Amino acid sequence: MTAFTYRKRVLHAEHVPLPAIAEAVGTPTYVYSSAALRSHFRAVTESFGEHPHLVCYSVKANSTLAVLRLLAEEGSGFDIVSGGELARVKAAGGAPNKTVFAGVGKTAEEMAAALAAGVLFFNVESPEELELLDAVGRAQGRRAPFAIRVNPNVDARTHRYIATGLKTSKFGVPFEEAVGLYSRARKMKGLEAVGLDCHIGSQITLTSPFKAALTKVGGLYQELKAQGHGLRYLDVGGGLGITYTEEKPPSTAEYARTILAAVGATGATLVFEPGRSVVGNAGVLLTRVLFRKKTPARQFVVVDAGMNDLMRPALYDAHHGLQPLVQRRGKAVDVDVVGPVCESTDVLARQRPLVLPRQGELYAFMSAGAYGMSMASTYNSRPRPAEVMVDGSAWRVVRERERVEDLWRGESP
Ligand code: LLP
Repeated sequence: MTAFTYRKRVLHAEHVPLPAIAEAVGTPTYVYSSAALRSHFRAVTESFGEHPHLVCYSVKANSTLAVLRLLAEEGSGFDIVSGGELARVKAAGGAPNKTVFAGVGKTAEEMAAALAAGVLFFNVESPEELELLDAVGRAQGRRAPFAIRVNPNVDARTHRYIATGLKTSKFGVPFEEAVGLYSRARKMKGLEAVGLDCHIGSQITLTSPFKAALTKVGGLYQELKAQGHGLRYLDVGGGLGITYTEEKPPSTAEYARTILAAVGATGATLVFEPGRSVVGNAGVLLTRVLFRKKTPARQFVVVDAGMNDLMRPALYDAHHGLQPLVQRRGKAVDVDVVGPVCESTDVLARQRPLVLPRQGELYAFMSAGAYGMSMASTYNSRPRPAEVMVDGSAWRVVRERERVEDLWRGESP
């Protein structure tokens, strides 16, 4: 769904003109569309129809309480990777018993808190982690429900920084070792095997990697069931890509068909961990032009959002569309849109054709809802942006702009 459209040359989020938000709240500010969030979430869950499934939104993509609350109200579960994310889910009113806990480096304290909270299961990524989880389970006098995350050794054909299913990756347990691990776990009193898990990467724009990985994982699930393990859940991870520029990712319906063809017959309750496909195109980052600067080699446009606010271009060379909040006619020139941070990688849009922006004009970085605010930092002692949620013609600030005093909270001079 496209929630951000021009009306009379002014970019709107649903029915709200974005310049009104920028003037009231300042910039940089993230703005989310509730209608887009709901529609993207519903598209995933509805495309699996009657097939038993649970969508566990991947909190890392955007962990803002208002986003989590909206999705919890839609019936979403959550995929978490830290005690901090669990605390956020609880603070937003999310259900721990619809929450799965992944990650290669859980501490005993994080495991104990999640077990006490009653998470649905832990996705375990190594033999040593399995032993620690067993000890945590025994200490609480209960069996910790777990799935082993297997690494199917499949190339997700995405950016190498966000591919996780190759055998050189730190994630998951080698496919061949899974059977042995489940039989070892059977003898451990603090554990209960309830599922099998895999996740091969992010921003995947083809169905073939999902098909290849899940065909293998579905076969393993059947094998483990045949060996008498009482598995009920098959967690297929997240990773469905979105359109930033020219990408043509599969629709949720095509994605669902691929998954069901590969693992539908296992009888397992399917668990999904979508992040980007739910929030990515439901958010934008508003920014204001500070200066223009022409050098013999480049036309620069300096804006008030930097790599600390939106890290993806600097970290992954990622492309985010850039649109003026008020359209103006003119000849397009190639500009480098850069932030104020003292790093040469603080380029948010490189050689982008734009009608030459003017000082004070407002722009929106598009498709910024996923891995935008959740990866923001205070580098260069820049307070993190405000966040706004739009719903129809209404909008509200859901996170105040960080205050300068917040920057040294807990420090002693
Ligand atoms: N499940 C697991 C185990 C994951 O590691 C991830 C993402 C997801 C689910 C959600 O994947 P999604 O549906 O969002 O693709 N910061 C990078 C993306 C890192 C993805 C990390 N894991 C970026 O900005 O592109």
